[in-house]
Amino acid sequence: MHIDNRVTGETRFVGLIGNPVEHSISPQLHNTISSCLGVDLIYIPFKVEEAGLKDAVNGLKALNIKGFNVTTPYKKDIMKYIDENSKEALLMGAVNTVKNIDGRLYGYNTDAEGFSRAFKEEVGEGFKGKKIAIIGAGGAARAITVKIAIEGAAEISIINRTLQKAHDIAGIIENNYSMNVGCFGTDEGAAGDALRQADIIINTTSIGMYPNTNESPLKKGIKLSDSQIVYDIIYNPSVTKLLAGAQRYGAKAVNGLGMLFYQGIYAYEIWTGIKIPKDALKHINESFVNILKNKGFKS
Ligand code: ATR
Repeated sequence: MHIDNRVTGETRFVGLIGNPVEHSISPQLHNTISSCLGVDLIYIPFKVEEAGLKDAVNGLKALNIKGFNVTTPYKKDIMKYIDENSKEALLMGAVNTVKNIDGRLYGYNTDAEGFSRAFKEEVGEGFKGKKIAIIGAGGAARAITVKIAIEGAAEISIINRTLQKAHDIAGIIENNYSMNVGCFGTDEGAAGDALRQADIIINTTSIGMYPNTNESPLKKGIKLSDSQIVYDIIYNPSVTKLLAGAQRYGAKAVNGLGMLFYQGIYAYEIWTGIKIPKDALKHINESFVNILKNKGFKS
C-alpha cells in the first residue's frame, strides 16, 4: 500500500490568509520550494472573512504557524494585529508577509522587495538617479514608490485618475525623504510630459490585465522612446497592451512575473532563514513558470 509521508508529526506549516485565495499560486510555489530544498514545511491557503480576521490571526498563532502571507483585502488591516511591523512596511502601509517567533508576530512587505530584485535582474540596473513615472496611486503604487525613494530615485511623478490619492503618496515620500514628488491627474497634459521624460515608467494599475487585454493605462498619442524602460506589474497577459506599445517604440518592456516570483522567495527566506542557493532558484523558477502555464497563463 502507498504511504503518504508528506506530512508527519514534525511537519511545520506556513500559509496564506486573504479573500479570495482560490486563484493563488503561492501554495504551489512555496510547496515546490520546500520539496526542492528538502524542508519539512507545508503551505496552506486560508480563506478568511473580514469579521474573522482577528480570530484567524490568533488561531494561527496558537497553532504555532511559522509564518504567513497576507493578500487582498487584508494587507493594511493585518497591520494592527502585528506586534512589530518593519519600518518599510509602515511607510508602505501594507504587510504581505508575517513571521511568528515564539508567539510574537513580525510584519514585512516583500512585494516591493520582490519588485526591486526582479527589476534589477531583468533591466541590469536599479533606480538610483533615475526619473521615474508611476501610473496609479493604490496600494501597489505606494509600496513601489516608497521602495524607489529609498533606493535613490532622482525624480518621481505619480499619475492617477484620482489626483488626491497621488498627493497622499507624495506626502508620505516628502515627509520621510528629502525629495519632491510631482502629482498629475490622468488627463492633464503635464502627465504626458512626465511620462515622455521618464527614464522608467511603472504601471501599478490593473488596466490591461486579463480579461481586459485591450486596455492601456497610457493615453493615445503619448510617444515613448527606445531609451525608456516600461515595467508593468501585470503578469497575465505576459505582454500587456502597454508593454506591446513600449516594444514598438524600442523601449525595454518588463512584466510583473519576476515581482510575483521574488515576493514569494523573500517570504520563504524570512520564514525559514534559508538563503536559497542560485542553482535551486533556477529550478524553482522553471517550476514557477510551469505552475503558471498549467493555470492557463500565457508566457
Ligand atoms: P492595488 O492594491 O493593486 O494597488 P488599488 O489600491 O485598488 O489596488 O489601486 C488601484 C489603482 O489603479 C488606483 O490608483 C486606481 O485609480 P483610482 O485611485 O482613481 O481609483 C487605478 N485604476 C484601476 N483601474 C483603473 C481604471 N480603469 N482607470 C484608471 N485608473 C484605474
